[in-house]
Amino acid sequence: MEIEKDITLKKLNTFGIEAKAAFFAEISSTEDFLSLIKTDVYKNNPRLVIGGGSNLLFTKDFEGIVIKNGLHGIDAVHQNEGHVWIEAKAGENWHKFVLWCVEYGYAGLENLSLIPGCVGAAPMQNIGAYGVEIKDVCEKVYALDMETGKETIFSNTDCKFGYRESIFKHSHKNKYLITSVVFKLSKKPNFNTSYGAIEQELSAMGVKELSIKAISQAVINIRSSKLPDPAVKGNAGSFFKNPEVSKEKHDELKKHFEKLVSYPIDNGGYKLAAGWLIEQCGLKGKCIGEACVHDKQALVLVNLGNAKGKDVYALSEEVLQTVKAKFGVTLEREVNIY
Ligand code: EPU
Repeated sequence: MEIEKDITLKKLNTFGIEAKAAFFAEISSTEDFLSLIKTDVYKNNPRLVIGGGSNLLFTKDFEGIVIKNGLHGIDAVHQNEGHVWIEAKAGENWHKFVLWCVEYGYAGLENLSLIPGCVGAAPMQNIGAYGVEIKDVCEKVYALDMETGKETIFSNTDCKFGYRESIFKHSHKNKYLITSVVFKLSKKPNFNTSYGAIEQELSAMGVKELSIKAISQAVINIRSSKLPDPAVKGNAGSFFKNPEVSKEKHDELKKHFEKLVSYPIDNGGYKLAAGWLIEQCGLKGKCIGEACVHDKQALVLVNLGNAKGKDVYALSEEVLQTVKAKFGVTLEREVNIY
């Protein structure tokens, strides 16, 4: 493992934003990391661990060391009649890992097909789509303390999962390097087609007999039709979270905006579709420089080619303020800003 200096991060973030890192190292084993933490560059600089770089926005150069998690390997570590426990190393590409599980008939991740990024980032933000979240299938997370290199194992409960939330985004932020994640998957599938769009797509595909392969393909089709491919148009998926509001606020909004898209949640309040709120503000297709609100899904901001991180940020600020002024609802960014 070598420590490089002054490298461009453009190909290391799915937004495709140009920014530099003062130092960069890719680790391909735990031993690499244990050697890295003994170096002066590591000890004396801010650190940022990245996987696929799919949830990041660089607004300036990173004056520290960027560490790319390049740990690879997928293993069935345990099984019984109904379940199999699969350990995937943090640097594995998420979608390839999901396809691997689908191919072997291990159910539980098929609704999470085609999400960009790596396995290690999945528990950090409790990735979710089409009615499933990582918290539903994550058994444990292996991580190394970034100061001492000591291994810690986090159970599902320890991770404190919430909507796009975990302990790794709060009290444990930048404190642990996730090395692998163990998933408890089912040999006998429990299909989740509760999300309306999946049912519609399965029927458009002419699927007669439900399978995890068919669900995975339906999700791939839906995502491809709405969400821009980062390899073609830089983006970081949903830029904002769907905001949660009280029942009172929801009812008041509903009086003024009959078509408000909302879902009841456990605490008695409602989650609002931020994409709908942004679209109603007339912001679809709005650009600052080469940073734009995606024309097919307003929750996604895209880089047309040479957008500056600062332009993407300014656009997100304009979206936040416009939505606040029209609906009195404050959006929260999902993407990590550096
Ligand atoms: N909508 C609009 N206009 C838009 C976008 C959405 O009216 O421009 C409406 C849709 O018509 C629909 C509702 O908003 O009624 C929800 O839209 P969609 O199904 O596309 O899902 P979302 O709430 O916008 C969330 C996740 C996605 C995930 C999908 C599917 C968040 C922040 N985003 O988006 O996750 O794929 O549901 O489960 O929760 C991500 O986190 O990066 C991500 C892509």
